[in-house]
Amino acid sequence: MLLEKFYIRGGKPLTGTVTIGGAKNAVVAIMPAALLADESCTIDNLPYIDDVITLADILEEVGAKVSLSTKGRITIDGSTVTDHKAPYDMVKRMRASYYLLGVLLGKFGKAEIPLPGGCEIGARPIDQHIKGFEALGAKVEIEHGIVRAEAKRLIGNEIYLDVVSVGATINIMLAAVKAEGLTTIVNAAKEPHVVDVANFLNCMGAKVKGAGTDTIRIKGVDKLSGCEYTIIPDQIEAGTFMIAAAATNGDVIVANVIPKHLESVTAKLLEMGIEVIEGDDYVRVKGISKPRKVNIKTLPYPGFPTDLQQPISVLCSIAEGTSIIHESLFDHRFRHVEELSRMGAKIKVEDRVAIFEGVDGLTGALVSATDLRAGAALIIAGLVAEGVTEVDNIHFIDRGYERIERKLAGLNADIKRLDDGQSLLKAVSSNVSLIK
Ligand code: EPZ
Repeated sequence: MLLEKFYIRGGKPLTGTVTIGGAKNAVVAIMPAALLADESCTIDNLPYIDDVITLADILEEVGAKVSLSTKGRITIDGSTVTDHKAPYDMVKRMRASYYLLGVLLGKFGKAEIPLPGGCEIGARPIDQHIKGFEALGAKVEIEHGIVRAEAKRLIGNEIYLDVVSVGATINIMLAAVKAEGLTTIVNAAKEPHVVDVANFLNCMGAKVKGAGTDTIRIKGVDKLSGCEYTIIPDQIEAGTFMIAAAATNGDVIVANVIPKHLESVTAKLLEMGIEVIEGDDYVRVKGISKPRKVNIKTLPYPGFPTDLQQPISVLCSIAEGTSIIHESLFDHRFRHVEELSRMGAKIKVEDRVAIFEGVDGLTGALVSATDLRAGAALIIAGLVAEGVTEVDNIHFIDRGYERIERKLAGLNADIKRLDDGQSLLKAVSSNVSLIK
């Protein structure tokens, strides 16, 4: 709900075990990909997040039969889809709807999707997506904010991506799986969710090879069939909890993960003096009272993920000495810095570089989430801060984290989701505590 807030009383180390859900950035591509089959697909380990709920609505709008359970399972039957256009009002709510371009182009040879706007973290062009569709023989036009793609036949081709792009890599795969002949994507993104989408497509009978490397080869097939698939664990949710455990000097087992996917986060936490123990399907993070300074540059996988740049900013804010973060992917991904500064952090931003002068601690304040991962960072800051923090605009956070307050409360955090309009900070200042 738009007016909901999180209320956090900080200063308690996180302890215990948290179980990670399915990967948001895999599922927002795999759900539309299911439309490519003319039979029903069952997908498990779905995170019950707002982006999944919105996307389920969009797939129903284009005619698919969808049943989404709150227990992490969805079945999608694309055989009833007849419309190659997606509804403007819904698509505007979710940037990743652009995967419907590749899917509807691949299914019908034409697609009409509203151009995804920029978003809270900067310009989000789709020129590389369009370059790929045109290389496959599609004519692509953008007018009145709508992207129209059409091709009599999609024919395989070699596509070199000028920029390593997760979205473009996945969208081109979606259009190419039923194209004639061989498609090669060179300079492809290697993220775990790119591999998960490729594995799902192969589960439906596609012929995709090389996902996870910088060259992906796709041999077109005539038909794709229904299948059963389980989404991989969410690398970014896992990293968020690892950082929260470290920042609160806690001791947390982050369970149901693939440690390999977390190697860059583990490496940086170890550099900061934090203990990370890897198991087969979990990592254990034990914090220290004063993390060491660190330098981080965000990069495409297997580099340090840009989606964890904002959360780890909190750890840099309270580390000893001067830490530096270079955000190399997006031009506007430091909007959380102002909010952290209100909590006592000392951060200077110059273009795409943030310089942190470590402080002894943070203090609670009224702060606003500006985007999904900035919101996660502010929650971590609230868990660290002395006193009370209230985070608003938490609808951003609900897009990508399933009931994060319940998972944190399970780790001994003092966090509550407030009803609309209540402000505990004001209530607390008048000594009227509504918590416990
Ligand atoms: C995906 O966005 C993720 N979203 C983002 O996660 C993530 O930050 C990003 O990948 C990078 O890992 C989903 O998967 C739904 P890109 P995407 O195309 O695909 C430039 C979150 O918090 N570019 O890999 O849009 C682009 O401007 C979200 O979960 C072009 O120039 O990212 C950026 O600088 C936020 N032309 C760089 O490439 C294009 O056609 C990487 O973007 C496409 C991208």
